[in-house]
Amino acid sequence: MSRKPLISGNWKMNLNHFEALKLVQELSYAITREDIDEVDVSVHPPFTDLRTVQTVLESDKIPFQLGAQHCHNETSGAFTGEISPVMLQKLGVEYVIVGHSERREVFGETDELVNKKIKSVFNAEMTPILCVGETLAERDAGDAESRVAAQLEACLASITPEDVGSMVVAYEPIWAIGTGKTASAEDAQSMCAFVRSTVSSLFGAEAADAVRVQYGGSVKPVNAHELMSQPDIDGALVGGASLAADSFARIVQYRNQA
Ligand code: PGA
Repeated sequence: MSRKPLISGNWKMNLNHFEALKLVQELSYAITREDIDEVDVSVHPPFTDLRTVQTVLESDKIPFQLGAQHCHNETSGAFTGEISPVMLQKLGVEYVIVGHSERREVFGETDELVNKKIKSVFNAEMTPILCVGETLAERDAGDAESRVAAQLEACLASITPEDVGSMVVAYEPIWAIGTGKTASAEDAQSMCAFVRSTVSSLFGAEAADAVRVQYGGSVKPVNAHELMSQPDIDGALVGGASLAADSFARIVQYRNQA
């Protein structure tokens, strides 16, 4: 099966809605329709920017997909400050990042909670981007694979093989996020292949063949081509380098660096 790559820009807690509008417009000039024929592109602004970005994507017919960085697992209720998946779906959001390591580390999200969120994102007819990845201590102790396997098993518990095949898993080694340190292309490939083989043993070969596996952690224009050339890497989850149109566009256009 050929999997269409997905390159996602995770803006984190950056850019107000004026700045978001400017960045999307700049990206729409820099990224061509030919690029989009080859690569899906999603942008994940903060919640307060979503309506603005949705409006410009629709009115200017910009072929990027809208994403969110997080959501609550319930549909509505007394959860002060939270946003539900159905609210995001109404705004035209197609992808929701779930279980980012910053959510896990700073906000205490557990695998069990991530599992609930994945189910509610599917219930609201959106696609989860599930983040998994090990800490430096776990890698140094030789536990990277067992950590990622345990996250996949717990976060994907009782999801159907069909749904797993339709989603995105982002392998993000925590030591590479925002640090400027990127996993080598070989290590990234080997962990993304491990993600796929774990999906295969849990959900079968068809789901494993279909699931898109992104690499994330200091992806930049200079390393995008090598990472994206690996057989089990189907995309990138980009933080810092997604905040400037030039660098994000060059990552989307990684094929030109060949
Ligand atoms: P980074 O972030 O590209 O700034 O390392 C990646 C991420 O957190 O998704």
